[in-house]
Amino acid sequence: MAEASRSQPIGIFDSGLGGLTVAKEIFRLLPNEDVIYFGDTGRYPYGPRSKDIVVEFSRQNTRFLLEQGVKMIVVACNTASALALSVIKQDCDVDMLGVTKPGALSAVKATRNGKIGVIGTTGTISSDIYAKEIGELDSKIKVFSLACPLFVHLVEEGYLNKPASKLIAEDYLAPFCTNGVDTLVLGCTHYPLLKEVIREVLGDRVVLIDSAEETAQTVYQHLMSTNILREKTTDVLHKFYVSDLPDRFHQVARHFLGDKITNVIRIDITKY
Ligand code: DGL
Repeated sequence: MAEASRSQPIGIFDSGLGGLTVAKEIFRLLPNEDVIYFGDTGRYPYGPRSKDIVVEFSRQNTRFLLEQGVKMIVVACNTASALALSVIKQDCDVDMLGVTKPGALSAVKATRNGKIGVIGTTGTISSDIYAKEIGELDSKIKVFSLACPLFVHLVEEGYLNKPASKLIAEDYLAPFCTNGVDTLVLGCTHYPLLKEVIREVLGDRVVLIDSAEETAQTVYQHLMSTNILREKTTDVLHKFYVSDLPDRFHQVARHFLGDKITNVIRIDITKY
């Protein structure tokens, strides 16, 4: 593994924009770090794709970020964390962290009755990654998993608080109203933006776990323990790259970051 230094940026990749929920937490918790974000908008969505394809795409994303000189890589996409991370990290030159382990850890800390629900894309749910990660932390916990693919599209279209979103959420989440879970992992980059609707459907008795916050904590701890945390700097630079036209990224990024992003560069990811 290559020697990393404090001044190098942190690399983050996602299938598109959703990983900005993770980037936002990293910006907040690690204000001195430069970040290079790659959103694979040209090949989004990853959720319904096969493992082989997600591994191949993630490998190219990783090569691109390595070429930018990152000191570590955060796989902000749940689907890529679930299907590709364990394969790619084996021969990666820098440390790689995903979002599923931190999400599982938060859920285990939060549950009081040992019943945890997990929602995610078809790829994430069919991999059973959260049940495995939770089981490793506490084998007595019961996990109820469910794919909610339409949620991603609702967020992409800006349907965050509309009656249609509530109807779809009621339909998807009906099992969680009766199976007794007291904690629900929002196991997809986009779902934290539907928190309000999900809370309306499930009520306050169910704790919603947003893996973005715990992931940022994990990144912080990792940088501390490996002595590559950048503690002070005068100018912080965040760079954003995408694999399709940047215009839509500009528009939708606002939902995720709350801020406008201007410096988005398009690259040809298939070259990596
Ligand atoms: N980023 C994906 C995830 O967290 C959601 C969007 C997609 O399907 O690519 O699983």
